[in-house]
Amino acid sequence: LVIGLDLGTSGLKGVVVDERGRKVAEARASYPLHAPQPGWVEQDPRDWAEALRAVLKALTPGLEGQEVVGIGLTGQMHGAVFLDREGEPLLPAPLWNDQRTAREAAEMEALMSRAELIRRTGNPAVTGFQLPKVLWLKRNHPELFRRLYKVLLPKDYLGFLLTGAYATEYSDASGVGAMDITRRVWDGELLGALGLSSDFFPELGPSHRVVGGLRREWAEVAGLPTGVPVVAGAGDNAAAALGLGVGRHRKGVGSLSLGTSGVLFLPLESPTPDPEGRVHLFCHADGGYHLLGVTLSAAGSLEWLKGLFPEVSLEILLKEAEGVPLGAMGLRFLPFLSGERSPYLEPKVRGAFVGLALPHGRGHVVRAVLEGVALSLGVVYRVMRPLAEAEVFLATGGGSASDLWLSLVGGAVGVPLRRVVGEEGAARGAALLALVGGGVYAALEEALEAARLEERPAPPPLEGMGTLLAEYEALAELLLVHYRRR
Ligand code: XUL
Repeated sequence: LVIGLDLGTSGLKGVVVDERGRKVAEARASYPLHAPQPGWVEQDPRDWAEALRAVLKALTPGLEGQEVVGIGLTGQMHGAVFLDREGEPLLPAPLWNDQRTAREAAEMEALMSRAELIRRTGNPAVTGFQLPKVLWLKRNHPELFRRLYKVLLPKDYLGFLLTGAYATEYSDASGVGAMDITRRVWDGELLGALGLSSDFFPELGPSHRVVGGLRREWAEVAGLPTGVPVVAGAGDNAAAALGLGVGRHRKGVGSLSLGTSGVLFLPLESPTPDPEGRVHLFCHADGGYHLLGVTLSAAGSLEWLKGLFPEVSLEILLKEAEGVPLGAMGLRFLPFLSGERSPYLEPKVRGAFVGLALPHGRGHVVRAVLEGVALSLGVVYRVMRPLAEAEVFLATGGGSASDLWLSLVGGAVGVPLRRVVGEEGAARGAALLALVGGGVYAALEEALEAARLEERPAPPPLEGMGTLLAEYEALAELLLVHYRRR
């Protein structure tokens, strides 16, 4: 058996899985999210430690003497845990969706052009990434910055607690904004130009490697022997992809998640970024690379709309939308409720309904929201396609339960979709990495093959969605111009 731990934005999920990736036990613990100022989003690493204690305690009692041979880690990417020499957090950790660092991101692009940053790190300066957060600390808390010893990504902080090692791996590290994506080392030149030392950052290595053994204190909490190997793991998107069996071993297979945000994930053999940085380029956890496109409000848009009609069930709303013809009688929705990441990278832009007319009823509004999100994903794939072509996307996330929505998304993206049966999620991917690090499999590919899930065809793509893409893009451009001017 192995354990996979996923440090999400709302809570920590732990799973125990067997050598075929089948779930044996599961436990969760939640922690609060703090927004002390507009645009700030942070969590207290001490709350994560508490959750780790609770989850480990709850996971292991039912295992009846079966051996746990490894623990794999995953979690939200991009956050910054600032630690002093004693390993104590200096401040709450700003998260991936924190926007306080717009100024620092702009400064990075002023110092080194956007094109140069993309060439070196695979991405432009993104406000949410970790590196601008370090610059923010330096500017705003010089006294704390002087005490800064290491800055860790969220899941790597769990690894530090469990083993005492300051370590990370390529997939999450490529989302810091400071890693040379081709050579897979911290970019000393870039860091030096920003007045930072590479020593602040943890040791880099592959995702399946063992970073240390379980310390006595935590072994007692978990009821496990000391020294159980802790495996570096992966960022949550890479880990979720592994959990689905998406990687370089299956060419042309990507994943598409309709969660709060919508995510397109497509493996790539070599580190070729979009020259304009409209989608992310990160290292995958299997030795390859991947493109990642994020539309920030996907199922989040539908949840927002549902909240306006508390007396009606989601089922009824979706039924009403099903009765509305393609194009929602001219009503368009742009899902920028909390700004947009891909392909526009603009935190300031906001959403819109365009084309409202007297004949429109509730069903048209719901239909427009479903179509708008689908088109957003379609536009993201348009940017990806010249770099990597997909033959199929495996659909996941809460929104993928809707046949209607999947057929709209399939139509907008122009690639067939499949549903995956059974367990999914990042914790499973982290556990599969632990199967390799823990010595059950010699290579990751063997673990992925052994743990392969059943896939079923999703409803066929809706013809005609593609014809709405150009109009969506034109409307998005108008909104961008408007909000960038403000
Ligand atoms: C990816 C991203 C999110 C976080 C939170 O770039 O910002 O998916 O990893 O889960």
